[in-house]
Amino acid sequence: MNVYDSARMADVLAPVGYAPADRPEGADMVILNTCHIRDRAAEKVFSELGRLRLLKAEREAQSGRMILAVAGCVAQAEGEMLLARAPFVDIVLGPQTYHRLPEMVARAARAAGAVIDTDFPVEQKFDFLPAAASRQTPDGITAFLTVQEGCDKFCSFCVVPYTRGAEASRPAASVLAEARLMAAQGVREITLLGQNVNAYHGEGPDGRSWGLARLLEALAAIPGVARLRYTTSHPRDMDAALVAAHGSLPALMPFLHLPVQSGSDRMLRAMNRGHDAASYLDLVARLRAARRDIALSSDFIVGHPGETEADFDATLGLVRAVGFAQCFTFKYSPRPGTPAAVLAGQVPEPVKDERLQRLQALIREQQDSFNAGCVGLELPVLFTGRGRKPGQISGRSPYLQAVHVQGGAHLIGTERMVTIEASLTNSLNATLSRERACA
Ligand code: 5AD
Ligand code: SF4
Repeated sequence: MNVYDSARMADVLAPVGYAPADRPEGADMVILNTCHIRDRAAEKVFSELGRLRLLKAEREAQSGRMILAVAGCVAQAEGEMLLARAPFVDIVLGPQTYHRLPEMVARAARAAGAVIDTDFPVEQKFDFLPAAASRQTPDGITAFLTVQEGCDKFCSFCVVPYTRGAEASRPAASVLAEARLMAAQGVREITLLGQNVNAYHGEGPDGRSWGLARLLEALAAIPGVARLRYTTSHPRDMDAALVAAHGSLPALMPFLHLPVQSGSDRMLRAMNRGHDAASYLDLVARLRAARRDIALSSDFIVGHPGETEADFDATLGLVRAVGFAQCFTFKYSPRPGTPAAVLAGQVPEPVKDERLQRLQALIREQQDSFNAGCVGLELPVLFTGRGRKPGQISGRSPYLQAVHVQGGAHLIGTERMVTIEASLTNSLNATLSRERACA
């Protein structure tokens, strides 16, 4: 979502004379769009700011000016504290106020002293963003589209409900209008974004509340939209209509990121996830019944406070029971202000390290075997650009694998059937199987 947000910041700044630059050296303004999800992501901001401070000083020594802004969730969470630690920062803005950037930049240019805006404003920022047609960084063949933001789930470990605010959905008409413009400009694959995307409940053009399944159905009907994905989902919000949509909408790709975090019921309760391991496995079974070839990925946290060896074993058990195509794994990182940060039973770092390694080894095995299982299959690939080697083009399989084939650049932007020939560490090699587009 930060990629999407950064591009929208570029859009709102274009009318006041800013254009994206390749590097910070020589730029009139540098915006760090930050992530607060784990401590390491947040700490990176301060080391980066240390470097930018030198650039800013250099610029000032040459009688120039470099405006330095910190946006995103670190800005939201730290606010004034960020300025205490980095007083050379000019603008601090949260993820809900980037449509106000031009005004903040004007104030920062005039004023001595920093401008802070970490409101959760009543107006919808999406109402103030330029249309897809006037994007600074045009979308490619694949693009993101934010449909929902914020979260009301309050998992014990997570800062999102505090930094991104309460759950809110964009009206369906606004999403559909953006998608139509994207399609007209050549986007073929749209990934719907939201911290809790399947909790989507936007106002429909018919005045009723639309769930994600209804929205996907309307998006799939837009000419040119060949592929749809959505991320990130919560198991509790996978309603029957959404599960069914995986069976009935061919454009909906058979690959779903469905974080479970742990396989231990005790930990899932401590995490305030609102589901247990059995209900997750049941959901996986229902998804597979709706779409036989669906592949799954997930997020896992090891070392949440109170996690025992038996809890961790339950996580390994769940991974074995599901068989994932891919997963993201994290060591629990205490986040200030979240309930888990002050729980007893914090797990020592070396224990977390060791569990992470064991989990990653199992997941690597599953990922390798999933990729190896694709060898010999015919799959549709959406070509997105040239490959690294001459004469090569590359694209994405339905399962988001990078696929390389020998082929002409005229195929970029089209979806073609390929035969998978080999599975490499992070990609697949394939040959074009027929001279026809996919159905
Ligand atoms: N520590 C470690 N991982 C976390 N995540 C969220 N908060 C934390 C935390 N405090 C992980 C979860 C989530 C993903 C986006 O980041 O697995 O699904
Ligand atoms: Fe964070 Fe996701 Fe839990 Fe919301 S559902 S609190 S975003 S982990």
